[in-house]
Amino acid sequence: MKKLLFGVFTLGTLIACNSNDSTETLTENTSIASRRSCPSEKLRAERLKSDPKLMAKYIANEEKANKFEQALKLGRINADGSVDIPVVVNVLYRTTSENVSDARIAEQIAVLNADFAGTNTDASKIPTEFSTIKAGDTKVRFHLIKTVRKATTKTSWSTNDAMKKSSTGGIDATSPASYFNLWIVGSMGGVLGYATFPESAGTAVDGVVIAAPYFGKTGATSPFNLGRTATHEVGHYLNLRHIWGDATCGSDLVSDTPTQTSENYGKPTYPLYNTCGGVKRSVMFMNYMDYVDDAAMFMFSAGQKARIQATVASSGPRAGLRVY
Ligand code: ARG
Ligand code: ZN
Ligand code: CA
Repeated sequence: MKKLLFGVFTLGTLIACNSNDSTETLTENTSIASRRSCPSEKLRAERLKSDPKLMAKYIANEEKANKFEQALKLGRINADGSVDIPVVVNVLYRTTSENVSDARIAEQIAVLNADFAGTNTDASKIPTEFSTIKAGDTKVRFHLIKTVRKATTKTSWSTNDAMKKSSTGGIDATSPASYFNLWIVGSMGGVLGYATFPESAGTAVDGVVIAAPYFGKTGATSPFNLGRTATHEVGHYLNLRHIWGDATCGSDLVSDTPTQTSENYGKPTYPLYNTCGGVKRSVMFMNYMDYVDDAAMFMFSAGQKARIQATVASSGPRAGLRVY
């Protein structure tokens, strides 16, 4: 803010003294330049003075630049331009195995970092057909801020968000506008996990829930023991839809993911063909946003990366993750 005020002040000074700038007069009268003279700022000052809309835009742009700089200073934007998402893990446990260890939490964060950077070792399995449209590095990273643990007598949870409120036996989210909150519960029946989408950004229920057996790798339950339930749910949190669009031949709003008839399970064999609207396509069942086993999913597409980036952009719905 201080910097912004200074910027406006500087501009005012420019406007004030541009009529009696002797150096400028000298240059203007010389047809061949003898030294460098760039009138951009001076012309800008005139434009800004006469156009309030332009002035408003200028101020907004400076605010954004300052925010970005602040985020960089806080380490929220990495040197490579990736957004460093702060994670708060909330553990609700009844048994010791449900009280997942710090090591297992670190393991899960490492899986998220590899999968979203495209450095997962199984990325080598991406079919050549899809290698040109793979996301590679989605430019988001995750780092653990803190872990909150709470014992409970509850044996089973549902998808009613009870785990997200202390008033219903859960743990309240920590600053959900600026932290990505992740809850681990013992069991949710047949549900591995669920997430809120960006329209819920900053609300008390914002975040991802994962059942303990499907969290992390060590001690997790096969075939969901590679930490990919979190990758899938964080995909939703960052605005990705299921690849089949939750409908027969539905749309996931991503143009480079081939339209497919429905979700896939287990470990399908490549190539797998689906026909939608009379068009036969080889489908991307190995995408994290399908329902296949952890070992069978290993990629995001470039189009999905664009949606992720739009979500965490300084103009995006989850811009709050960039500054805290
Ligand atoms: N919400 C999905 C479910 O509960 C998550 C699917 C995750 N898939 C996976 N292979 N881990 O079924
Ligand atoms: Zn899902
Ligand atoms: Ca698609």
